[in-house]
Amino acid sequence: MTYPYQIKSLEAYHKAYKDSIENPSDFWAAIAENFVWKKKWDKTLEWNFEEPKVEWFAGGKLNITENCLDRHIDTLGNKPAIIWEPNDPKDSSVILTYKELLFKVKQFANVLKNNGVNKGDRVCIYMGMVPELAIAVLACARIGAIHSVIFGGFSAQSISDRLIDAQAEFIITCDGAHRGNKIIPLKSVVDDALINCPFVKKVIVCTRTHTAISMIKGRDLWWKEEIKKIDAIGNPDYPAEEMDAEDILFILYTSGSTGKPKGVVHTAAGYMVWANYTFVNVFQYQQGQVHFCTADIGWITGHSYIIYGPLSAGATTLMFEGIPTWPDAGRFWEIVDKHKVDILYTAPTAIRSLMSCGMEFLKDKDLKSLKVLGSVGEPINEEAWQWYYKNIGKQKCPIVDTWWQTETGGIMISNMAGVTPQKSTFTTLPLPGIEPLLVDENGTELLGNNVSGNLCIKKPWPGIIRTTYGDHERCRTVYFATYKNLYFTGDGCLRDEEGNYRITGRVDDVLNVSGHRIGTAELENAINMHSGVIESAIVGFPHDIKGQGIYAYIIFDKMHEDANLTRQDIIQTVSRNIGAIAKPDKIQFVSGLPKTRSGKIMRRILRKIAEGETENLGDLSTLLDPNIVSEIIEGAL
Ligand code: WTA
Repeated sequence: MTYPYQIKSLEAYHKAYKDSIENPSDFWAAIAENFVWKKKWDKTLEWNFEEPKVEWFAGGKLNITENCLDRHIDTLGNKPAIIWEPNDPKDSSVILTYKELLFKVKQFANVLKNNGVNKGDRVCIYMGMVPELAIAVLACARIGAIHSVIFGGFSAQSISDRLIDAQAEFIITCDGAHRGNKIIPLKSVVDDALINCPFVKKVIVCTRTHTAISMIKGRDLWWKEEIKKIDAIGNPDYPAEEMDAEDILFILYTSGSTGKPKGVVHTAAGYMVWANYTFVNVFQYQQGQVHFCTADIGWITGHSYIIYGPLSAGATTLMFEGIPTWPDAGRFWEIVDKHKVDILYTAPTAIRSLMSCGMEFLKDKDLKSLKVLGSVGEPINEEAWQWYYKNIGKQKCPIVDTWWQTETGGIMISNMAGVTPQKSTFTTLPLPGIEPLLVDENGTELLGNNVSGNLCIKKPWPGIIRTTYGDHERCRTVYFATYKNLYFTGDGCLRDEEGNYRITGRVDDVLNVSGHRIGTAELENAINMHSGVIESAIVGFPHDIKGQGIYAYIIFDKMHEDANLTRQDIIQTVSRNIGAIAKPDKIQFVSGLPKTRSGKIMRRILRKIAEGETENLGDLSTLLDPNIVSEIIEGAL
């Protein structure tokens, strides 16, 4: 299959960029011609950022799974769609060809239908990285049900919050998940979540770890048994449901600066076009290549660059169940050699962690199959970039540093492998269709180069967030109200003398810990659930591996004699309320917090102290009790 729209030179990039900005409707209409439509669209783009309202390809009818599966069957039917690599290298990998994957997706689509799942219903998926996870996601898309995948590291409380928000009546899970030498008891976490969710009708359980679990009659069903029922009626076909271009494809929850996670909504056509276009262009995908994105499907990176982007391009996508450091820190490299991976897409936190394990894990590794390397999720520091470039890419693989967000659906600012220039620690240039601009706090545009400010985007692109599920006003206030007529990213950014962009980190109260977004308000809420906590304030601090670590200042009533025991209690509370990914790295007990006379916590001061700064804390005169600052400095960890 050829991609007339794959950009192959710097000149072609400049031309495509110019066309896309001058005439977005014509540009994206031409791009959209490369997909299978049940009916072509009436209007390419309709938008205003005030409401906000964005509609791409309105009137068009399609199903994303026809684009990811059916259309490849004639040419690529016997080619691997998914290579699945298990947690334990001693177990065998699984290959699903496009034909086999389509068969399994149809089969599971029938299971869903058999259990009363209809178009538009929300289905929550809480599974480990097993092939059935991809099958479940695609089967939902096939029947037009809205999937909401929840990362396997989230707690029962987080799951029930999300189930309630989405009013999801169906859950697909596993008995357990393997992660290194641990087993995560997924089904039992779901059981706890369901105590607050009596509206859930069915839970389908896929067997993976053979962990003992309880099954509730009438509600809980085994995946295998349900498949058998479909087999028994001779595996009927499941024609792809006809979806409107703007029908919801999925909800994915993400942390924001207020306490409650937001259900980011993406729709069928625009998301598909964006995931595919960015995959093909950024990674410069060539037919037959193996693409290994190390993210979990519970995050947007997994949605767009394990499932929808690669499969819509007919690529072979590699799904890895385990973690980079088990059984040892050579696991990624072993997988690259074993499956002859062409494109490796991972996060700076993984690179830093593997870098810190030393070179011995690279000793017997060949890595010759690699052609393109990618980075995502957080700013990549110079040292990690150089290590990745020299030791993994052997100085011949371009590194694409891809900036984007759950809300953007796909990559926004990035070099294109070998086509546009790379520059370490810079995400470089915007992709076609993306008009970035930097503003100061008042929303005044910062013109010219060598400036830094808050990153906004001027116009809609096909993959832009459409709404936050069930609460459109929240979408408006968070993204479209800070600066009039602009999409606000929440990121700080600088533009160098050549117009390259470099992301400097979040400017709102959101931390980026190991490439995962965690809102400080959400964390504070979780910590404050502990009965002994009077008040807490969370800030980030620079962390060698995680990028940012979590620093908690806590006013606590009646400590244990051993402060560490109290710390353990608090960490437990966070794990129970959010999940282990949100555990604070440092907890400092304080007798007060630096507040202004109006009661606002001055986080700026706490941030500086967490960074190890004891002087130059700025103006303290507006503080209610300036003495508290010296006490906090003295007790700093
Ligand atoms: C950060 C992940 C620097 C940024 C795809 C953004 C990055 C947040 C990069 C979104 C990058 C993502 N360089 N920072 N290449 N990519 N970020 O929603 O702060 O999990 O706003 O999406 O990650 O995180 P999210």
